[in-house]
Amino acid sequence: MSEDQLAIETHGLSRTYERGEDNAVDALVDVDLAVEAGERIGIMGTSGSGKSTLLNLLGTLDQPTTGTVWLDGIDPSTLDDDARSRLRNRKIGFVFQQFNLIPRMTAEQNVALALIPRGVDRATRHERAREVLADVGLGDRIDHHPNELSGGQQQRVAVARALVTEPPILLADEPTGQVDTETSERLMDLFADLNEQLGLTIVIVTHDPTVEDHVDRTVHLSDGHVVDEASYAGAMP
Ligand SMILES: Nc1ncnc2c1ncn2[C@@H]1O[C@H](COP(=O)(O)OP(=O)(O)OP(=O)(O)O)[C@@H](O)[C@H]1O
Ligand SMILES: [Mg+2]
Repeated sequence: MSEDQLAIETHGLSRTYERGEDNAVDALVDVDLAVEAGERIGIMGTSGSGKSTLLNLLGTLDQPTTGTVWLDGIDPSTLDDDARSRLRNRKIGFVFQQFNLIPRMTAEQNVALALIPRGVDRATRHERAREVLADVGLGDRIDHHPNELSGGQQQRVAVARALVTEPPILLADEPTGQVDTETSERLMDLFADLNEQLGLTIVIVTHDPTVEDHVDRTVHLSDGHVVDEASYAGAMP
């Protein structure tokens, strides 16, 4: 077995959302994926093709209907809730499509929060939060609440929160969806630096062709299935 070589592996991963009798959505169907440590993968596909569903399963935020995920060889479904949370906090930085920032907290507090499960002292948590916010270009917005930030700025707070724990794996759902080209390039440069310096494994959902230049390969989803690039292109309207 070579599981320990891989940052992420899935076998036969499927997720059906049950919405009462005769109303099930097969959002993800039989997905086999192998991501090496330090690899950068782009997930592409039309709206509703299963990208966020896949990312939620990789990030242990949701459980598959059938099939298995391994993170560094560990199957999170074998862990209890506490152990799974610890695994997630240690291994995964997650940038949500909808950001999921806490409204009553400032940018700095939102980012610092991610370090609490690590047992980092308060002063260090906030110092690290300010550093990472500066890295994403928000050094002058640390005391703003989410509703005092633009969509792209909120997105960058979400990126800072994902990176502040220095996770080995970054899962990012459209992290450049709301930012201009220059900011997008800057985020991609930051991800590239972390990839080179720390071997960060990156799985990034994107529609953005400029992001495609910053990944090693892309995986295309169509109706929950992994399809090869040619058939994906052929299926485009
Ligand atoms: N909680 C849910 N209950 C029922 N169906 C769901 C649920 N979440 C997602 N779906 C359905 O599953 C399919 C995949 O959804 P998913 O959110 O993974 O798509 P996506 O590729 O991320 O799309 P987008 O690019 O619009 O974010 C869609 O058809 C969606 O309607
Ligand atoms: Mg989505």
